[in-house]
Amino acid sequence: MVHYQRYYQQHLRKGEGDEESQSGVIGSNGSYYKRAIRPKLLSFIFLSLLSCTLIWAPQLFGFSSTFSLLYSLGAENEQMGSDMGSNLSPCSSMSNGTVCCDRSSFRTDMCYMKGDIRTHSATFSVFLYTQNEEEQEFHEEKIRPYTRKWETSVMNSIDELSLVSKPRPAGSPYKCDVWHDVPAVFFSTGGYTGNVYHEFNDGIIPLYITSQHFNKQVVFVILEYHNWWLTKYGDILSHLTNYPPIDFNGDNRTHCFSEAIVGLNIHDELTIDQTLMKENKSIRDFRELLDRAYWPRIRGLIQEEEELLSLSPLSMPLLTEEKKLKKPKLVILSRNGSRAITNEDLLVKLGEKIGFQVEVLKPDRTTELAKTYRALNSSDVMVGVHGAAMTHFLFVRPGRVFIQVIPLGTEWAAETYYGAPAVKLGLKYIGYKILPRESSLYNEYDENDPVLRDPDSVNQKGWEYTKRIYLDNQNVKMDLRRFEKRLVRAYNYLVSKHRQV
Ligand SMILES: *[C@@H]1O[C@H](CO)[C@@H](O)[C@H](O)[C@H]1NC(C)=O
Ligand SMILES: *[C@@H]1O[C@H](CO)[C@@H](O)[C@H](O)[C@H]1NC(C)=O
Ligand SMILES: *[C@@H]1O[C@H](CO)[C@@H](O)[C@H](O)[C@H]1NC(C)=O
Ligand SMILES: *[C@@H]1O[C@H](CO)[C@@H](O)[C@H](O)[C@H]1NC(C)=O
Ligand SMILES: *[C@@H]1O[C@H](CO)[C@@H](O)[C@H](O)[C@H]1NC(C)=O
Repeated sequence: MVHYQRYYQQHLRKGEGDEESQSGVIGSNGSYYKRAIRPKLLSFIFLSLLSCTLIWAPQLFGFSSTFSLLYSLGAENEQMGSDMGSNLSPCSSMSNGTVCCDRSSFRTDMCYMKGDIRTHSATFSVFLYTQNEEEQEFHEEKIRPYTRKWETSVMNSIDELSLVSKPRPAGSPYKCDVWHDVPAVFFSTGGYTGNVYHEFNDGIIPLYITSQHFNKQVVFVILEYHNWWLTKYGDILSHLTNYPPIDFNGDNRTHCFSEAIVGLNIHDELTIDQTLMKENKSIRDFRELLDRAYWPRIRGLIQEEEELLSLSPLSMPLLTEEKKLKKPKLVILSRNGSRAITNEDLLVKLGEKIGFQVEVLKPDRTTELAKTYRALNSSDVMVGVHGAAMTHFLFVRPGRVFIQVIPLGTEWAAETYYGAPAVKLGLKYIGYKILPRESSLYNEYDENDPVLRDPDSVNQKGWEYTKRIYLDNQNVKMDLRRFEKRLVRAYNYLVSKHRQV
C-alpha cells in the first residue's frame, strides 16, 4: 500500500492535480490553500485501506470516482435515525443505548448517540447511560466536532469531547437539570471561525446539511461558543432551530437528550451534494433559507427608507433615482490592503459606460450580513478579486453573473473554492485571469522571472512563498480594455436572458 501511495504522490507532483503547488491563501492564517491536497491523499489512503482492489479505479477514472465513493459513504452518514435504512453505513442501524462513530470521511468525524444522554461540561464529556449492566461495558469515543479533520494544527485547537457509554450508576450522580425532548447537534465555532469563507464552508453550510431535516426541532450545543457568532448568524440559526443554543463550556448544567449528533457533515467546498441530502435539498435550498432569514431585517430597512423618503422634500429626485434601478446592477466587492484593484474608480466608470448601475461594497467582519445580502440579492453581476469575500457569491441569485478576478498564482484556489461552487449554485461564472502586466508584481520582478512567468513553480516551493509573494503583496491594475470584453459579455447575457433593460 505504501507503494501505491508513493505512486500516487509522484503522479500528483507531475500531474494536473498538483494542487498544493498551485494554491495560495485567502483570508486569515493561510488557512486553506495549501492543504487542499491532503483530503485527496487521505481519501486515497482511506480507499487503500478499504480495499486494495479499489485502488485502480480512482486512478483510471480520475478524482471524481474517488469522490463519489466517499460521498456515497457520506450519504449514509446522513441516514442516521430510525427512519433511514442503509446497511452499508456503520451507524445506520444503531440501536437505542449506543454510541456509533463514523470516521470514514476525510473531512469530518461524526458520532451518533441514542438513549439516556447527559452532558457534563466540567469533564468535556457526554454520557450515555445504558440500562443493562450485564451486557454493556464502559465504552469511550473521542471527537473534535469540527469539519477540517485533515488539518492537524487547527484541529488541535478544537475542544475534544469524550462520549462515554456506561451502565447507569447506582443513585444518579448527574441528574438532569434541563430535559430536552428534541435531538441535540454538537459542533464547534472555534478554529478558523472569524473568516467568512470558513464560517460558511466549515460551519453554516455543514450545520444546514446536518440539521435541516429536523425542521427546527433540534438544539444546538456549541463548543468554543462566541457571542459575536450568534449575533452575526442569528438570522440563519433561527431558521434552523426553534431553541436557544447551549454554550457547552459556559453552561455547567446537566442537559439531557434522547438523541444526539456530535460533529457536522460536509460535502465539498461551499456546496451541498443534493444526492446525499434528505428531501433532495440543494445549495439553492440553502440560499432560499438565506432569503427567508434576511427578509425581515431587509423589510425593516426598506420601511425605514420609505419613511425617510416620505418626509423628504427631495422625494422627486429620488424617484428618478429609482428608475435608474431598472439598469442591470454591477456590484464590485472592494478590497484594500493586498489584492486591491488600484484602478477601481476607472472600473466603476467602465461599468457605467456599458450600461450598468454600479455599486461598490466593502464588506468586513463587522458588516451586517443582511445588508450585504440585500446588495447582492438585487445585483446582476458581482465582481471581485479572489479572496474570502468571494464567499458572498452565495448571496447572488441563480442565473446572474459572478466575475472573479484571479491574480497571479491563485488560479487553482480561485477555481476550486469559488468558481466551481458558484457554477453549482447556478451562477454564470467568468474567471478573469490577469496577465503579468496587470499585476503589481510586474514592476517588482524581471519580465522573465518565474514569479511572473511560472507561478506554479513558485507555489511549488512552498506555502510561505505563495503567501508572501502572491497573496499578501499583490495588487491588480486591470487592463480595462481587456476586461471590458468580459463585462460586455455579462451585460449581453443578462439582457438576452432576463430582458430587463
Ligand atoms: C431508549 O432508551 C432510553 C433509556 O436508555 C429509554 O428511556 C427510551 O425510551 C428508549 N427509546 C426507545 C425508542 O426505545
Ligand atoms: C455551575 O456554575 C455556577 C456558576 O458559575 C456555580 O455556582 C455552580 O456551583 C456550578 N455547579 C456545578 C455543579 O459545578
Ligand atoms: C432532485 O431534484 C432534482 C432537481 O433539482 C431533480 O432533477 C431530481 O429528479 C430530484 N430527485 C429526486 C429523487 O427527487
Ligand atoms: C431577493 O430578490 C428577489 C428577487 O428580486 C426578491 O423576490 C426577494 O424578496 C429578495 N430577498 C430579500 C431577502 O430581499
Ligand atoms: C482598509 O479600509 C479600512 C476602512 O475603510 C481602514 O480602516 C483600513 O486601514 C484599510 N486598510 C488598508 C490596509 O488600507
